[in-house]
Amino acid sequence: MYDLLLKNAKIVTADDGIIEADIATIDGKIVEIGALDGAAKENIDCYGLHILPGIIDTQVHFREPGNTHKEDLETGTLSAIAGGITSIFEMPNTDPLTTSKEALFDKILRANGRAWCNFAFFIGGTKENAKELPFLEKLPACAGVKVFMGSSTGNLLTEDDETLIEILENGSRRVAVHAEDEKRLKDRQTIAEEKADVHAHPIWRDEETAVEATRRLIKAAYRTGRQVHVLHVTTAKEMQMLAKYRDIASVEVTPQHLTLFAPDCYDRLGTLAQMNPPIREKKHMEALWEGIENNTVKIIGSDHAPHTLEEKKQPYPKSPSGMPGVQTLLPIMLSHVNLGKLSLEKLVELAAHNPRKLYGIKNKGYIKVGYDADFTIVDMQAKRTITNDWIKSKCGWTPYHGLNVQGWPIMTIIGGCVVMREDKIIGEPIGSEVKFTT
Ligand code: DOR
Repeated sequence: MYDLLLKNAKIVTADDGIIEADIATIDGKIVEIGALDGAAKENIDCYGLHILPGIIDTQVHFREPGNTHKEDLETGTLSAIAGGITSIFEMPNTDPLTTSKEALFDKILRANGRAWCNFAFFIGGTKENAKELPFLEKLPACAGVKVFMGSSTGNLLTEDDETLIEILENGSRRVAVHAEDEKRLKDRQTIAEEKADVHAHPIWRDEETAVEATRRLIKAAYRTGRQVHVLHVTTAKEMQMLAKYRDIASVEVTPQHLTLFAPDCYDRLGTLAQMNPPIREKKHMEALWEGIENNTVKIIGSDHAPHTLEEKKQPYPKSPSGMPGVQTLLPIMLSHVNLGKLSLEKLVELAAHNPRKLYGIKNKGYIKVGYDADFTIVDMQAKRTITNDWIKSKCGWTPYHGLNVQGWPIMTIIGGCVVMREDKIIGEPIGSEVKFTT
């Protein structure tokens, strides 16, 4: 007897295209794929829907511990499953920072029994913990090491090349990096203060700020032979540069940098559109799409970075950088699929297959016998309007409020259990630790 039988599914894979088959699960694992008619405790007819491997968001900020008035592990993961996400990797710029074994284990303890989706946490790389990183990066539920080369929210910062190199020399897993050049940010900070207008955000944190950091990062990566993952790439120049260094650097882009552009986003949304690195002009957005087309981009991550509306409404530059996105990643990207910007197969590659490959995730990211029974079921015909009242994040808003989209997550299934169906949350928080092979 199966636990769950998904009938008449269109299974989406990047390698074999879209396959029509049924999927059976037992004890949280995929046990059979094919024309199946055995008995099951739960049968779901998926006719007309697409089944994707559970979508993995490899960049979210959930604020626990330290700033739980913005978000916590419960609300952040609830927002994730509402948007069809089955696993998240959470960033270390919490308070205290996640830079030690104790801080990592504290997060794991907090997540157990409260996380609605599966989870892993990054360890922040610093001058102080550099020597310990080979040990820290191998701890359970650790997604790897994250480095901030430029200041953003929180106090995690690696300004100089010497420390960057020391971090890269210590350990073997791919290192995720926020690449903005701190020296240039400091030198030009007066631009933000004098202009006191959010339109100045991409002028202060300009193209060169990102390009210079990425240049330094690639050099350091070659010098140490360490694989790096450049998070939220925003400029045409970086994309051209990174196309040449695929052997050492992988690339992430976010849905917001693929969807919003300056100055329109600042005209419409003001400081709600403020994030680091910033949303830039349309020509950069177009270059990011080209990066997807020519396979330079390997991952789509949301950089979910919630702040309350009250905090965001402070006058620039007091307003904090970041916008929520874990719940809207999929609706926004499915809408881009319907608009012909990428195929559904490509989206599965960017948000399920590649997270598995690049981070060495165990048993997730594919629909294959023996893999975890995590699925994201989508209706490519469904037309909806994204609104703030649909958002489960504690911050309660989205930069896409009022946006009409086509393509919607209809069901989120974790370990063979349906946890979201037709916008309703079902059951208990059953998320568990993501495991790694690296
Ligand atoms: O805009 C941002 N906000 N960029 C980051 O890198 C951090 C994030 C946050 O944590 O608020």
